Amino acid sequence: MSVIFSGIQPSGTLTIGNYLGAMKHFTDLQDDNECYFCVVNQHAITVPQEKQALKQNSRSLAALYLASGINPEKSTLFIQSEVPAHAQLAWMLQCVSYIGELERMTQFKDKSTGKDAVSAGLLTYPPLMAADILLYGTEIVPVGDDQKQHIELTRNLAERFNRKYNDIFVMPDARIPKVGARIMSLQDPSKKMSKSDSNQNAYISMLDEPSTIVKKVKRAVTDSDGVVRYDKEEKPAISNLLTIYSLCSGKSVEEIESLYEGRGYGDFKAELGEVIAETLKPIQERYNELITSSELDDILDLGAEKANRKASKMLTKAERAMGLERRRR
Ligand code: TYM
Repeated sequence: MSVIFSGIQPSGTLTIGNYLGAMKHFTDLQDDNECYFCVVNQHAITVPQEKQALKQNSRSLAALYLASGINPEKSTLFIQSEVPAHAQLAWMLQCVSYIGELERMTQFKDKSTGKDAVSAGLLTYPPLMAADILLYGTEIVPVGDDQKQHIELTRNLAERFNRKYNDIFVMPDARIPKVGARIMSLQDPSKKMSKSDSNQNAYISMLDEPSTIVKKVKRAVTDSDGVVRYDKEEKPAISNLLTIYSLCSGKSVEEIESLYEGRGYGDFKAELGEVIAETLKPIQERYNELITSSELDDILDLGAEKANRKASKMLTKAERAMGLERRRR
């Protein structure tokens, strides 16, 4: 039994990249482990958010976690801002972080380059993520490939803190899926699929209608040789679509290649659209029930209570280690 923690930002509707790279893998872990899944709304505000949209997106993400199979009786599902220990430990970890290492984070560089005004929160995003993970004694962090660097930094901060103050933090490891760790944009296979892409045809949202999904897949860019074959270097667009097909259908890439031998991209794309829509259908049905129910808020209330109980213990240890506690018990 290991402690598992992962988080997703409520900054727009989730894409099938989020699902195939991260969320889909969470449910398998909850039977034999102590799992914490978080709606990281404080990470979302590192870039401007409209207040009503943020509120809605946070509930919506919680509903998607449940609809995809997170069982609140087995896992703790909660909203980050409802557990103040995250922000409290994040501050302490900022004080052991160096500006240079934070400026070197790829995500910071990507999100800040060319912008006039960049929030300080965007720079100190990784110590908040480290706090999320370290508060729970997390051993495994299931994430997509783009979070690897943040988990590396989390380990560095934990090690630095342990060495300097007291050996209290557990070293977490990232668990990145072998296939689907980086689902690419449908419009530009050199870019990762992202919910913040300005071109809606670049991603499939987990809540897209079947007809929209079919349309977006039809519009996906491909090469011009018409052969459905996996070749990441020479045929990155088709390879990305094959990965998505394989993960959604459970068929191997080879099986799919032979299924479409001599048939061209038209059939392949039309059927891929159906396969994705079928995968999302049960999730969307359950989502629609949950989003209007009071059950969702009850689950989140209970999740916050459980998470607060666990997190406050580690926060106290960290405060004691740093000398932030007045009375020594
Ligand atoms: P976020 O919200 O950007 O993404 C959530 C999860 O989805 C994965 N992901 C992808 N996987 C495959 N292909 C893609 N195109 C793709 N896009 C996103 C991400 O790798 C991630 O696992 N910093 C995190 C949120 C976070 C967190 C944490 C994660 C905050 N605290 C603690 C783990 C532990 C983020 O921005 O994820």
